[in-house]
Amino acid sequence: MDEHLPIEKLHFEAAPSVDRVPGPRSRELRERQSRIESNAVVYPTDVPLAFEEGQGATLKDVDDNYYLDFFAGIGVLNVGHSHPWVTASVAQQAGTLSQTLDFPTEARLELIEKLDEIAPGDLQGNNCVVFGGPTGSDAVEGSIKLAKYNTGNNGLIAFYGAFHGETAGAYSLTADTKYKQPYTPLLAEVEHIPYPDSFHQDKDDEQAVADALAAARRVLEDRFGAMPNPAGVWVEPIQGENGIIVPPEGFLSGLKDLTDAHDVPLIIDEIQTGMGRTGKWFASEYAGVTPDIMPMAKALGSGLPLSATMYHEDLDTWGPGGHTGTFRGFLPAMRASVRAIEYIQSQELLAHSRTEGEYMLERLQGATESNPAIGEVRGRGMYVGIDFTDGEQRSSQELVGAVQTACYEEGALVWTGGDDDTIRLIPPLVMTHDQVETGLDILIEAIESVTAA
Ligand SMILES: Cc1ncc(COP(=O)(O)O)c(C=O)c1O
Repeated sequence: MDEHLPIEKLHFEAAPSVDRVPGPRSRELRERQSRIESNAVVYPTDVPLAFEEGQGATLKDVDDNYYLDFFAGIGVLNVGHSHPWVTASVAQQAGTLSQTLDFPTEARLELIEKLDEIAPGDLQGNNCVVFGGPTGSDAVEGSIKLAKYNTGNNGLIAFYGAFHGETAGAYSLTADTKYKQPYTPLLAEVEHIPYPDSFHQDKDDEQAVADALAAARRVLEDRFGAMPNPAGVWVEPIQGENGIIVPPEGFLSGLKDLTDAHDVPLIIDEIQTGMGRTGKWFASEYAGVTPDIMPMAKALGSGLPLSATMYHEDLDTWGPGGHTGTFRGFLPAMRASVRAIEYIQSQELLAHSRTEGEYMLERLQGATESNPAIGEVRGRGMYVGIDFTDGEQRSSQELVGAVQTACYEEGALVWTGGDDDTIRLIPPLVMTHDQVETGLDILIEAIESVTAA
């Protein structure tokens, strides 16, 4: 078993194949869960299934139904479920040594070297990596500390529509007032400025970029309105939770020019977009922009919890203990990470993501262009959003919910984004062309039947 195993060999052949769902065992487990677990559980409220096994880009539920998986643990499983090349290294490492704080080990150093090999732009050869807690929010907290420590400033700048996590610092950068409201005050000095979202702002791309950069300039340099003490600007290269908003050309590079001019670090959050998701290792590469600080998580551990923050070596001012966390030495996840990167390299999955992403966009745009319920289909690589509009009878959220249900009933699992008005497709990068095609057949049929009703 090696990294040359072709992607066609990774999946349940039976998928998609579904009886009436949810089946009796799914219902039983869901009922048991709702008796004993928190009300905060959300995924099975929309997709009421219980899963038993995953292989590649496919899942099997407890009633022996098989699905094509278009959400991949929400952007975590870029090389798919239970990849044999990955799980063998996890088992081997777990049976040898699991947890070593930040003592040097082969697994840890190999990962840091591998991350340097795929680092974006000028970070290659000039970076440091710090591990802390295992989640994306932990990596974002690390980036806040690092930016503050280096600049001596406290002010944080982020964007409308941003999602950076739900711990207090990260939540301060997240822009979702609905969920944040009960927990204020969070960090005191935070400003949000418009992200260039031409579709929702009803502007052309050039105007959206010009307006976003004008707002960034104002907050960084306007004598009568700027933030006086900026520690950094946090940005997603594509806004994921907000419904896969791809900023037009010129935005990230313009933003980098501004942050450079003001000597403020640009923190590009690649937690959802990184590790090959969009067809490059990191989405900032499309804009030719190098982050000063880059939090990573989700697909980094290939299914095991792992986050890291990479930053330019000039910012390596912390002394020993400057940033810590008990789980900063979780070796099985580090092994998994290296193997997933090797597999993506050996099977050329970056190119696969670009090709399949273009196919997904073309097919979905073609199939929905005259459908008044669809506002926009957008994305980059295997990272695609289908934005719905309100109909006369039903809101965009109701339409999206009905499409999601129609999809899982036919064997395709899709998730939502934005204000729950967008279908989000984030399949494992190992999903084959045939599987993508079958999944899109199911999705397009679901969109047509739901929006015609
Ligand atoms: C861009 C981005 N940053 C940060 C996070 C937070 O990651 P976690 O949920 O692992 O804390 C997410 C999660 O969706 C994300 O998409």
